[in-house]
Amino acid sequence: MVSTGVKIVGTVSALIVLAAILYKKHETNSIHDRLDHVLSGLLRAERKVSQTSTKARVALGFGSCSDIFVDALPVFNKLNLIAPDEPEHFDSVNSTDSLAKLAAYFFRYGAAAERYVSNTSLFETIVSISDTVAGRRWALGGNAPAMANRMALEGLDVLLGSRLTPNLASSISPNIKVTGKSVKDEDVHVVLEYKTGEKWGKYISPRANRLILHSDNSNPYLKALEDFQREIKSFNPSLIVVGGLQMMDNFPFEAGQRIARLEKLKNLLKQTPSTTKIHFEMASFTDGTLLEEVYENVMLHSDSLGMNEQELPNLASLLTEGKITLVSEIVPRVATVLDQMRVIYKNMKNHPKSSRKLSRLHVHTLAYQAILTKKSSSWKNTMSAAAKAALTAHRYVCGSNYINLVNAKILMDDSFARSVRDSSNKVNFRENRPVSCWDEDDYEICVAPVLVCTNILQTAGGGDNISSAGLVLQI
Ligand SMILES: *[C@@H]1O[C@H](CO)[C@@H](O)[C@H](O)[C@H]1NC(C)=O
Ligand SMILES: *[C@@H]1O[C@H](CO)[C@@H](O)[C@H](O)[C@H]1NC(C)=O
Ligand SMILES: *[C@@H]1O[C@H](CO)[C@@H](O)[C@H](O)[C@H]1NC(C)=O
Repeated sequence: MVSTGVKIVGTVSALIVLAAILYKKHETNSIHDRLDHVLSGLLRAERKVSQTSTKARVALGFGSCSDIFVDALPVFNKLNLIAPDEPEHFDSVNSTDSLAKLAAYFFRYGAAAERYVSNTSLFETIVSISDTVAGRRWALGGNAPAMANRMALEGLDVLLGSRLTPNLASSISPNIKVTGKSVKDEDVHVVLEYKTGEKWGKYISPRANRLILHSDNSNPYLKALEDFQREIKSFNPSLIVVGGLQMMDNFPFEAGQRIARLEKLKNLLKQTPSTTKIHFEMASFTDGTLLEEVYENVMLHSDSLGMNEQELPNLASLLTEGKITLVSEIVPRVATVLDQMRVIYKNMKNHPKSSRKLSRLHVHTLAYQAILTKKSSSWKNTMSAAAKAALTAHRYVCGSNYINLVNAKILMDDSFARSVRDSSNKVNFRENRPVSCWDEDDYEICVAPVLVCTNILQTAGGGDNISSAGLVLQI
């Protein structure tokens, strides 16, 4: 009796273990199958539009720099930065003390940030220390050159409004025409990168991201603007891309200098014929007055905007509450992002001061890509553009054109609400047709899941590649 009982118990527990193993195996298989279906679906959607029929011409401005990509923690250590007890936000950095507090402020949220260092000797120290850290690498930086290279890679005709040093000019694709004189000194940007779960004192980063430090002398003045304006007339582009204006953030301009440059840019945009589309690529702004000036002088004269999940609430709250946000959710719900996109679209659509009506808005987030386009506009292929942007996000961060599903995960849920205010009207995520598109009012929205890269090579600069990848299929 007793021994039979033991036997039965033994058999039952063996069965449970077996069942658990089978279940686990099944679970792993089904996760892999799901990823596989999503990947094939995205690749199909991307390939649907082969190549733009006519060779499109794109002009991009402004700024350029050398980026040094380096692991943040060894730099903090070599600078003797101690993780502070109380993180604090500063609009710009003037000492190691303010750097430590600022770094902690963003690191604990894993939030992207880009700040001006006003103390030149401190900045030089940061650059020379970064250059001694193992694994650091130098690359061509700046939104405009990065987007220009990407567009040239896609086979477009490209005009770049930047003043380059001979060194930077050599890392630009030879197919790109550069306006603006050659210069001797280049601005350097230090890209301090960290991974998910890295520990600095009592702080653990919840996601991989970067803090960018710069001390630009030349970029804030948009020095290539006049040459760019002259060349644009004969180049006759179908698209102008404006970016790099965040270099003006907290720069010590003389009174009136900054707004004068922005007004000059506004004139260029207003004189552009309506057959040329204008895209503005947002970035991290901390100075609310500057963001307002950029809104009035640049965004209201653009057809299209590109931004990430930090920049979106920043702009939305400027429009609704008159002030900016510094840090927001790192993985926001789709519904939250879509609501903020609607706020921006509706605010800009009928703005009395705008010379163009916004007709496209692309938001790139870690987990998904969302593109809103006005239905009667000439933007094409929104679904394929969202898929291409999602695939580019993975390819860029993993640093590989081939997508290995071992390095991928999906952060999106099985279904998502279209709006925070209405949770009944859900979109079901379909593995075989992963890009969801639908119509609302006078616009269409497409949301594509990102196969989030788990084996991270780089994060900074991703937005430029992702935004360009989306634009290329839409012009
Ligand atoms: C550095 O910045 C802090 C905070 O903005 C300010 O209180 C301090 O006076 C500044 N120090 C110098 C030397 O500029
Ligand atoms: C700039 O930073 C250096 C190094 O941290 C420091 O010694 C110096 O006092 C700072 N200068 C100013 C003006 O704050
Ligand atoms: C990003 O763009 C650069 C050109 O600026 C290109 O060399 C690189 O391959 C792109 N990366 C991906 C993953 O598309």
